Formats: sequence, structure tokens, C-alpha cells
Amino acid sequence: MYMNFNRKVALVTGAAVGIGRACALKFAESGADVILVDRDAEKLEGVKNELSAFGHRVLAFACDIRREEEVEDVVKSALKELGKIDILVNNAAIWRSFHPFVETTTQEWQTMFDINVNGTMYFTRAVLPGMVEQKWGRIINIASVAGVYGNGNMVTYSATKGAVIAMTKALAKEVADKGVTINAVSPGSVSPSDVADPDHTQPSELCYMNRTGSDNENAGLICYLASQEAAYLSGQNIQIDGCRRKI
Ligand SMILES: NC(=O)c1ccc[n+]([C@@H]2O[C@H](COP(=O)([O-])OP(=O)(O)OC[C@H]3O[C@@H](n4cnc5c(N)ncnc54)[C@H](O)[C@@H]3O)[C@@H](O)[C@H]2O)c1
Repeated sequence: MYMNFNRKVALVTGAAVGIGRACALKFAESGADVILVDRDAEKLEGVKNELSAFGHRVLAFACDIRREEEVEDVVKSALKELGKIDILVNNAAIWRSFHPFVETTTQEWQTMFDINVNGTMYFTRAVLPGMVEQKWGRIINIASVAGVYGNGNMVTYSATKGAVIAMTKALAKEVADKGVTINAVSPGSVSPSDVADPDHTQPSELCYMNRTGSDNENAGLICYLASQEAAYLSGQNIQIDGCRRKI
């Protein structure tokens, strides 16, 4: 069967809505045990209930990924309960802040780096040794086209996603001969993440396809990168942007 995740354990951050939720659903549908992480405990519980329909094990952890100790506790508890983590999707981030660069406060800069970059680093550092030991692992970091081209009025966000892409490429080289692949996925415009239908799209002038990408389209790419079939693909940043027009 194509993209079979039977006996695999996948951890997805930012799993309460949007791309993270769609991804968690796809993993569970394809046989994986899933660890859901988000700071929104209530929405996370709803996703946990949705996933339980597939009959595999599901754990949900309310966690603020910028808190190093919380991240380490989540990984310890998950390993205790499920024995291993094969797949890590670093998806949680904040991005809804639009203003000229000179209006950037140090606190905003710090917070965005704490979540988008440090949170990704904490989870990766906590999970990677187990992957190396078992000689199999997949890490998928959700970046953005903003990290490739740079979005005006989103300088801080663009900088965090650029950092995530560089981190992905560098770390992939360290573990390429250890059975662990690390890739980044850079969405263009995605439909609003609070719409429950993961196939929802809407018109967009930002790409030649003239529409946003759906959560499921993004989740499909992420799951492919997490699969056995993608074993020879590492250190890449793959844009999923409907053929971006404005950069
Ligand atoms: N939506 C887009 O148009 C778009 C475009 C490019 C890239 N992306 C990236 O895709 C990813 C998912 O975005 P989305 O729009 O699907 O979801 P979103 O931004 O609406 O939600 C992200 C989830 O992350 C969680 N989160 C935020 N900060 C957290 C923290 N400190 N600790 C724990 N959880 C936290 C939120 O509670 C939320 O459930 C993000 O990395 C985002 O930067 C999104």
C-alpha cells in the first residue's frame, strides 16, 4: 500500500487546526499512532476525538513549544507511552503580524523567534537521538515562501522561516547517513486554518493557479516526505504554492 504508516509513530505540533490537523488526520487514516501537540488544549481535544475514529493510539499534549522544559516533558511522556517517535512535523508557528519593519518591537521579534525557531529546535533536539538510534526517522519543518523570497511587512516572520529552512538543510547533512531525513515544506497561501473542511480553497491572486492551497494538499506533501517512499529525499525545501506569482 502506498504511504502506509502502520506501526509508525508521528508527532505533529500545532495540530489543533489547519495544516497540522489535516496532517494528523492523514497519518491516523494511514495507520500511524499520533502524538498531537498544541497550546490550545480545547481544540486539541476535538482533534483527538476525530482521530480516535481510525482506531490507532492518539496522545494529546497541551504544550507551549517555546518552553524548553515543556517540550522535553512531552517527548519523555510520549516515549514512555509509545516507545518511539518515527516522524516529527514541526508545524506550530505564529505569523499573523503585518506592519513595516521599523514598527517591530524587540518583544515581537523575540516571541516569533522563540516559537517559530526555538520551538522547532527544542522538538528536533529532543526527538533526533531516538531516530538516529533506530536508524529511521523523518523530520518535516513547515517553513513558508516568506522564508524564501521575503514578504514585505512580514520581516520578522520571513526571518524566522529563513532560519528554519537553513536549519533544515544544515542538519540534514549531519544525519543523512543515519537513516534520518529532514526536509522543509514552504506553503504559499493556504485557506484559513479555522475552516474545518481540509479541502477548502478560495480565490487568490498570489499564484498562477489563482487559488489558495488546501490543508489537505499541504498535508499530502508532508505525509509523502514522512513516508518510506521518500527515503532518498533530504535537505530540501519544497514550495507548495500553486506556482507563486507575487514574490
Ligand atoms: N496559513 C498559511 O497561509 C501559511 C502560509 C505559509 C506557511 N504557513 C505555515 O504553516 C504552519 C501552519 O499554519 P496554519 O495556518 O495551518 O495554522 P495556524 O497558524 O492557524 O495555527 C498554528 C497552530 O499552532 C499553534 N501554536 C502557535 N503557537 C504555539 C506555541 N507557542 N505552542 C504550541 N502551539 C502553538 C496554534 O495554537 C495553532 O493551533 C505554520 O508553520 C505557518 O507558519 C502557513
